[in-house]
Amino acid sequence: MATYIVLLGAPGVGKGTQAEILSERSGLAHISSGDLFRENIKNQTELGKLAQTYMSQGELVPDDVTIAMIRDRLSRPDCKAGAILDGFPRTPAQAEALEKMLNEFHGQVDVVPLITAAESVLKERLNDRWTCRAVGHIFNAKSNPPKHVGICDIDGSELYQRDDDKAATVIHRIQVYLDQTSPLIDHYREVGKLVEIDGMQSIEHVTQDLLEALKK
Ligand code: AP5
Ligand code: MG
Repeated sequence: MATYIVLLGAPGVGKGTQAEILSERSGLAHISSGDLFRENIKNQTELGKLAQTYMSQGELVPDDVTIAMIRDRLSRPDCKAGAILDGFPRTPAQAEALEKMLNEFHGQVDVVPLITAAESVLKERLNDRWTCRAVGHIFNAKSNPPKHVGICDIDGSELYQRDDDKAATVIHRIQVYLDQTSPLIDHYREVGKLVEIDGMQSIEHVTQDLLEALKK
């Protein structure tokens, strides 16, 4: 049976960083809803144009288009063994839709690591984040600097700062997380799938705790 892992946590807590590492180690596909939207924006698709109006404000993209995009992505052959979901689901309606689509794919959400960190730390990490233009590899000026300033270690592409990482937008994104996504914490706790991970530790220690949680 396929394995589906849902990484839950506030903006900047390290979902993308950890999903990239876990995907490399496990061979499971890394599905980031934010990266999929940014790819559509880069390619100027209709979905990208729609998503940009919401993302630039730090608002969630409507459920129907987000769910359709994820369904399409999860149907591809590289997700046959399962996937690490980073940034989806983010509302109760998305969680319900995920359950239904995984039923169709003869799978289910296996485990939901909730990564947590203090709000001041989230803000600092996003302020110092640098992202690669090619595929979204993640760096941090303080905690995870690239070998050469402004250049991705992995593919040599330019590093940029995300438009929605401006301080005012970050404050709003955190509020949106608390209002719209945090209800999922109780839901996944009630069904016995939630595992809390201390995201204040180093990247390596967070990975170790995640690998422990996934073994169970
Ligand atoms: P998305 O791209 O998913 O953004 P997010 O959830 O706000 O999360 P981030 O990507 O900002 O943070 P992260 O947890 O991945 O942290 P990272 O690993 O980069 O979504 C963007 C937008 O798209 C949304 O606002 C919305 O508009 C739209 N969207 C996406 N999904 C949607 C959905 N399902 N429904 C509707 N709309 C949706 O780490 C952050 C920084 O910290 C990096 O610099 C990293 O190097 C560093 N770092 C990481 N871990 C550590 C550590 N342990 N110690 C020190 N530094 C660390
Ligand atoms: Mg991310």
